[in-house]
Amino acid sequence: APVPIVAPSILSADFAHLADEVKVVESAADWLHVDVMDNHFVPNLTIGLPVVRSLLAATTLPFDVHLMIEDPRRWAPGYAEAGAYNVTFHAEACDNPVALARDLRAAGAKAGLAIDRDTPIEPYLELLPSFDTLLIMTIKAGFGGQAFIPELLDKVRAARRHVDAGHLELRIEVDGGIAADTIEQAAAAGADAFVAGTAVYGAADPAEAVRHLRGLAER
Ligand code: DX5
Ligand code: ZN
Repeated sequence: APVPIVAPSILSADFAHLADEVKVVESAADWLHVDVMDNHFVPNLTIGLPVVRSLLAATTLPFDVHLMIEDPRRWAPGYAEAGAYNVTFHAEACDNPVALARDLRAAGAKAGLAIDRDTPIEPYLELLPSFDTLLIMTIKAGFGGQAFIPELLDKVRAARRHVDAGHLELRIEVDGGIAADTIEQAAAAGADAFVAGTAVYGAADPAEAVRHLRGLAER
């Protein structure tokens, strides 16, 4: 199994000091998870391309951009062109996910497909060869600090079976409520990339929290 990836989510960081907050985890994190919300796809609003662009210049960490927005066709390629490592958009917001994945890869990024709490995974399994990451929400998308929903790991298990059977090169990422008491069950279900907001930025030592989480996921 590949080495697990831990991606701190800056949604739980201090937005007045984003560059400093990124520096705090830079030596420990694999990716930086950046939640873009538009107050339409989800009832919350965060940051957009101008802030992401500035933040990209402030760190060497690969950006894992999670677009919780409507009309990702219009906006997602801009994040790839700006230099994001991985750009993930929601299946619920896109009527041709494969075409958008192709555009993202053409723009030099990895392509990610996100599945929200109430969306079944089965219709999307056949699309996975077009993607580099599959983000399975373990909460309802929109806010940090929510409780992990263990039943959603059934989707991780189904995706893991499909990925292994097809020998696909794809990260299965979980997002929502990932912490020291939940990451092991997510890893056991087959996830190999882990987003953590509260569990990292709510810790006294965020870098140590990242290392601790990775250690738990590795076992
Ligand atoms: C919420 C975001 C998450 C959020 C997770 O919709 O996608 O990335 O930051 O926060 P925690 O880790 O606190 O559940
Ligand atoms: Zn996220």
